[in-house]
Amino acid sequence: MTAAGPGRPIGVFDSGVGGLTVVSAVLSRLPRERIVYLGDTARVPYGTRSAQTVLKYSRNAARFLLRHDVKLLLIACNTASAAAFPGLRSELPVGVLGAVEPGAASAAAVTRSGEVGVLGTLATIRSGAYERALLALIPSLKIHVQPCPLLVPLVEEGWNDPADPVSQLVVRRYLGELRDRAPRLDTLVLGCTHYPLLRETLQLVATELWGHPVTLVDSAEAMAVATEKLLATQNQLELSVGAELLHPTARLRCFVTDEARVADVAARFLGRALPQVELVDL
Ligand code: DGL
Repeated sequence: MTAAGPGRPIGVFDSGVGGLTVVSAVLSRLPRERIVYLGDTARVPYGTRSAQTVLKYSRNAARFLLRHDVKLLLIACNTASAAAFPGLRSELPVGVLGAVEPGAASAAAVTRSGEVGVLGTLATIRSGAYERALLALIPSLKIHVQPCPLLVPLVEEGWNDPADPVSQLVVRRYLGELRDRAPRLDTLVLGCTHYPLLRETLQLVATELWGHPVTLVDSAEAMAVATEKLLATQNQLELSVGAELLHPTARLRCFVTDEARVADVAARFLGRALPQVELVDL
């Protein structure tokens, strides 16, 4: 661990702009912290690639953020967390938090039936990372996984309105397959940065299909809570007064590896207009 002072920024990366849901949660929860964000938009999606490729891309992203003197690295991408969290945590000189463990901890805390569903990209589901994280918490849990590869492009296209018939149809097909295999499930992990934007559709369809309450868990809020805890443990929380007066976007520096469509798509994930985006080559 380096002797990085609390005034240094938190580094956050994702395969694209989906990780801005995590940025938004961290900026709101920790009003004195600054963030340097990297969206690897030139190489998105990661979710269809092999674990080796995702690990290589994640190392590139981490190296870039370390050059910005970050005090902590958040992997705000489920696919990258599933492939690269253990490696990056052991290699890097700063603390590293992934998306999988905080999301799994929230799910383990809310399930009553002991049956949990996990939705994610092909790579996340193939990795088995959520099963490992959930079973490490409660070995008796029954876990049912469902890859949902069409949900990322739907959200990027902006077809995430709950009244949209196409997204309803796609969500119904994925959740229908899961419902047939897991009728007792009561908790669904949204194991991908993009799925919180489909929360209303997923909730509507899940309630209808299961016929009992199903709690949706997303890792963005859980990651913000875990960030606060880790920084506090390491005496790295920014405590100086003044910084909290800055508008959230004034505390955010945003880099991308390709600018096409970023302005359109990113604001939907951040929940507000994006600051000036800077283009980089990794
Ligand atoms: N950020 C990815 C995730 O959370 C979704 C997009 C991609 O496939 O790169 O899994």
